[in-house]
Amino acid sequence: MSDLKKVVIDGTEVEVDGAMTLIQACEEAGVEIPRFCYHERLTIAGNCRMCLVEVVGGPPKPAASCAMQVRDLRPGPEGQPPVVKTNSPMVKKAREGVMEFLLINHPLDCPICDQGGECDLQDQAMAYGVDFSRFREPKRATEDLDLGPLVETHMTRCISCTRCVRFTTEVAGIHQMGQTGRGEDAEITSYLGETLDSNMQGNIIDLCPVGALVSKPYAFTARPWELTKTESIDVMDALGSNIRVDTKGREVMRFLPRNHDGVNEEWISDKTRFVWDGLRRQRLDTPYIRENGKLRKASWPEALAAVASATKGKKVAGLVGDLAPVEAAFALKQLIEGQGGNVECRVDGAKLPIGNRSAYVGTAAIEDIDDAEMMVLIGTNPRLEAPVLNARLRQAWSRGANVARIGTNDDLTFDIKQIGSGRDDLVDLAGMDHSDKHGTKGVMIVGQGALTEADGEAVLSQA
Ligand code: SF4
Ligand code: FES
Repeated sequence: MSDLKKVVIDGTEVEVDGAMTLIQACEEAGVEIPRFCYHERLTIAGNCRMCLVEVVGGPPKPAASCAMQVRDLRPGPEGQPPVVKTNSPMVKKAREGVMEFLLINHPLDCPICDQGGECDLQDQAMAYGVDFSRFREPKRATEDLDLGPLVETHMTRCISCTRCVRFTTEVAGIHQMGQTGRGEDAEITSYLGETLDSNMQGNIIDLCPVGALVSKPYAFTARPWELTKTESIDVMDALGSNIRVDTKGREVMRFLPRNHDGVNEEWISDKTRFVWDGLRRQRLDTPYIRENGKLRKASWPEALAAVASATKGKKVAGLVGDLAPVEAAFALKQLIEGQGGNVECRVDGAKLPIGNRSAYVGTAAIEDIDDAEMMVLIGTNPRLEAPVLNARLRQAWSRGANVARIGTNDDLTFDIKQIGSGRDDLVDLAGMDHSDKHGTKGVMIVGQGALTEADGEAVLSQA
């Protein structure tokens, strides 16, 4: 049940859900509040203090708008809606103070920092900071972490917003990052100096509001303003995450996520994020012909002539892979069928009934996971096959949904009721009386593992 509350923000009255935080209410009113630690998809930390606003009639000090709910505001003496100001002298002074504090220890190395040009700290220092500092003390320095081959760290730049800690713990489901020490000694670190065991870790690069966590493979190769941005869809797993391809000239420089609430929210897996180096290195870009057991480089006309003479009068078959574009797949189909041959596309061996699409295309949408009460996984390891989907399952689990599984007992970062791993378990599950669960919202995910066995079709129809 929503409890709508009225609130006046910078003179504009808005009616919002009382459970909203002030920062969200300000967004509803079209007012932008600067922030570092707040992120809509993570829990609230309230530790950067950049989002301070003035609550009129409240305590005589600024309030952190990300950590205060609209329903906590008191109405005026006559019952008037509470008033919040985001552009008063108190707020301006508070923001300048916070910026000055944040910059005490932050190294001013923007010219050599990969985040330059897309750095929240840089942008907000320009917009809300001052051009001087009263601190003459030497800046502190921190040792860099080795988080693995994907995320490069410059921990001296860290402003301790804890977004990376909250993401890895809450969304990725690993408990390897945390903060140690207090005050001057506070440091973000990985548990016992371990590298991160998550295939979603690249997202902390996007989350870090400063240049403390940057992409290792992309380091020092481009500046954001040099890049051409093209929206696209990821093909590295079956999820179809929304991505942006950044190119410099002809070269693909990086992949970044785009927000889509119904698919990937704003996360992508590391495979998606870092796959672009495969477009550049070790490409098979020249045809080879095998002569006397040895491969030698050949020109395209030479190679195609060799193919034509080798297939002449023979029965041919074409095999088209998952990553071939539709045009290429269609051209191959025409070519092979013109020769009287067959084309096959199920390269992974999935026993999907060809010609009966409705037998294998599911009816559930990814968003159904969000309010599912029961989820059943059959022959799948979503943590490997579609890490972003796994994070969504984890979210549903942390909200209270139950997860059961028939298949191998892999760690998916959340608790699962293991029913078994064989066909009998599936038959038993199908035969159970589910009448007491009437009305329970459920989602069943059937994975490749279940479909690639010889009896894949039977498993699918039983599921
Ligand atoms: S490394 Fe970045 S994301 Fe993590 S706490 Fe520091 S500033 Fe925040
Ligand atoms: S955004 Fe509110 S305290 Fe950081």
